[in-house]
Amino acid sequence: MYLTHLQLKNFRNYECLHLEPDAGLNLITGENAQGKTNLLEAIYLLATGRPLRAGREEELIRWGAEDATVYAHIHRERSLEVQVQIDLSRTQPRVVRVDGQTYRAALALGQFNVVVFSAMDMEIVRGQPADRRRYLDLEISMLSPTYVRALAGYRRALEQRNRLLKSIRESGGAITPSTIELLEAWDEQLVRYGSGVMVARERFISALRPLARQAHSELSEGREELDIRYAPSIEWVSPEREQVAECFRQHIQRVREEELRRGSTLIGPQRDDLLLFVDGKEARTYASQGQQRTAMLSLKRAEFELTLQERQEPPIVLLDDVMSDLDDLRRTQLLRMTLRGAQAFITATSAETFPQEILAASRMYRVQDGQIQLVSRP
Ligand SMILES: Nc1ncnc2c1ncn2[C@@H]1O[C@H](COP(=O)(O)OP(=O)(O)OP(=O)(O)O)[C@@H](O)[C@H]1O
Ligand SMILES: [Mg+2]
Repeated sequence: MYLTHLQLKNFRNYECLHLEPDAGLNLITGENAQGKTNLLEAIYLLATGRPLRAGREEELIRWGAEDATVYAHIHRERSLEVQVQIDLSRTQPRVVRVDGQTYRAALALGQFNVVVFSAMDMEIVRGQPADRRRYLDLEISMLSPTYVRALAGYRRALEQRNRLLKSIRESGGAITPSTIELLEAWDEQLVRYGSGVMVARERFISALRPLARQAHSELSEGREELDIRYAPSIEWVSPEREQVAECFRQHIQRVREEELRRGSTLIGPQRDDLLLFVDGKEARTYASQGQQRTAMLSLKRAEFELTLQERQEPPIVLLDDVMSDLDDLRRTQLLRMTLRGAQAFITATSAETFPQEILAASRMYRVQDGQIQLVSRP
């Protein structure tokens, strides 16, 4: 899959942009603060529905403008070509269009896949469980629309259930038969959607594990071993939907008293974590910076391979200013991946760190103050 067209209107520092990128390598250079990351962010937004950087959606709209539009035409080998457009406004909720048809925002995700490498990725290894859950949700959402629905359903149920638990606590813990009935109804919603979320996370991590191990072994030249593991807040015997649902149901009953006392939901996917181990030790606390970076790259390589397996075509690769931080081995590995037929957008302040073969194979752009100029074609 690759973008044939990308158009931006009032997106970040781009007033108006129309790009027809190469189906292979696109190298975008420019000084700091000219719009390199912003360009990748637009592509990321179209693929995932989320901004690349945390913050309010309004921040994506160009200063002084009322609304913004991001549009891409995507060529896909295994399914029809598709056009995705997101309209952002300061006053209205966003509108997502797929082939001109308007969709509820979340359900338009996953029309195409991206794998992004940026300095912020280290948060997945080093950050909090919430960072890793966010990562899991994004990745699985890009591969599965069912997951998007389960997650949305779960969030709604969780919010309502928490509201109910809180109001019971605030009313002094008095429980009437009708509140019990209401609570049980929310329990069932929680179990229904939550088991879907947990089973999907379990499957995703199981599929990613061997690929990440393989990648890490290659990147460390066989010296280190990576393992990744799902750490859900409940236990189950086998990861079948019904089994997981039953275990979740039982756990909820066990913590009911405690939940009523505290006024909030204590177990479920909102407490999950993804654990990374290098040579058997948790990477977050024990791995060196270099090991953490290798683990990170391995995870990304694994995502690339997994997308390739599931979609039968490579995802679009976004490399945001990461080449200069890498040693030769890792840089070569990364580029080898992008050379396997993937479209790639690679940003850098200068092209000097790139091997000649890459420069020769790339379409080169120069970005300055939200304007992009084509410098050369391969
Ligand atoms: N909503 C917005 N409207 C206008 N300009 C914005 C908006 N949001 C961010 N910018 C500006 O966009 C500029 C470019 O940002 P970007 O992150 O793309 O730079 P970059 O080229 O990646 O730089 P670096 O090399 O430092 O990473 C910044 O100067 C920022 O102030
Ligand atoms: Mg940048």
